[in-house]
Amino acid sequence: DHPHIVIAIDGPAASGKSSVARALARKLRYVYVNTGAMYRAVTWLAVDKGVPVVDAGRVQQLLHFTKVECGVEDGQSTILLDDVDPTPHLVDEAVNANVSAIATLPDVRRLLTEKQRAFAYDYDVVMEGRDIGSAVFPETPYKFYVDASPEIRALRRARQGLQDSIAARDKVDSSRRTSPLVIAEDAHVIDSSNLTVEGVVGEIFGRLKQKGLPLGEL
Ligand code: CDP
Ligand code: CDP
Repeated sequence: DHPHIVIAIDGPAASGKSSVARALARKLRYVYVNTGAMYRAVTWLAVDKGVPVVDAGRVQQLLHFTKVECGVEDGQSTILLDDVDPTPHLVDEAVNANVSAIATLPDVRRLLTEKQRAFAYDYDVVMEGRDIGSAVFPETPYKFYVDASPEIRALRRARQGLQDSIAARDKVDSSRRTSPLVIAEDAHVIDSSNLTVEGVVGEIFGRLKQKGLPLGEL
C-alpha cells in the first residue's frame, strides 16, 4: 500500500487526457505523471538504436542495458534514458507509428508500471494513461475515463498539426493481452466530445469533492 493520493485518468488517443490531467494537477498542486511519455520514450530508444519494436527479446535486452531514470521537475514527471532527455522526439512520426507495438510487450509494461507506482511513494499524483485505474493503481478510489467520439478525437489531433494514426493505435491498445485499454468497473466515465478542458476538469473536481477527497481551500 502507498500513502499518497492517486487520481487515475485513462482514455483513448486524443480524448484530452493530458490537457485535463495537467490542468487538474496544477489546480490541486499534485504531480502530473504522463505515462504515455514513458512508453513513447522507450519507443524512441528502440527506434534510435535500430532495435525492431516487435522483437521482445532485443527490446528487453536494450532496456536491461539502459539506465531508465524517472523524476519530477516543475510538478511534472520526467524520464531520462542513459542521461538523455527524449522529450524532443516523443511525437515523432516513427514514435507514433511504433509505440503501440512496444506497449504490447509484457517486460516493457512491467518495468514502466514499477516506475509509475514509485511516483506515489513520494507524491500525490494525477497519472494519465491507458491502464492506470485498471492495472497500475486498481486500489485507488479516484478513477476517471475520459472519452470523446472518434471524429472529435481525430479533429483534435489534426488541429495540433500532428500526423498520427490514432484509430490504429486505439485498436492495438484495446486488444492487447497485457493490461489493455479498458474502462475500470469503478471508473467515472466522462464524454468530453462537447466539453472544454476546463469543463472536464470541473466535472472531475466535483466528483472528487463528492468522494470526500480533502481539497483544502480549493
Ligand atoms: O496522448 P496520446 O493519447 O496520443 O497517447 P499517449 O498517452 O502518449 O500514449 C502513447 C501510447 O502509449 C498509447 O497509444 C499506448 O500504446 C501506450 N500507453 C500504454 O500502453 N499504457 C499507458 N498507461 C500509456 C500509454
Ligand atoms: O492526452 P490526449 O492524447 O488524450 O489528448 P490531449 O493531447 O490532452 O488533447 C488533444 C487536443 O485536444 C489538445 O489540443 C487539447 O487542447 C484539445 N482538447 C479539446 O479541444 N477539448 C477537450 N475537452 C480536451 C482536449
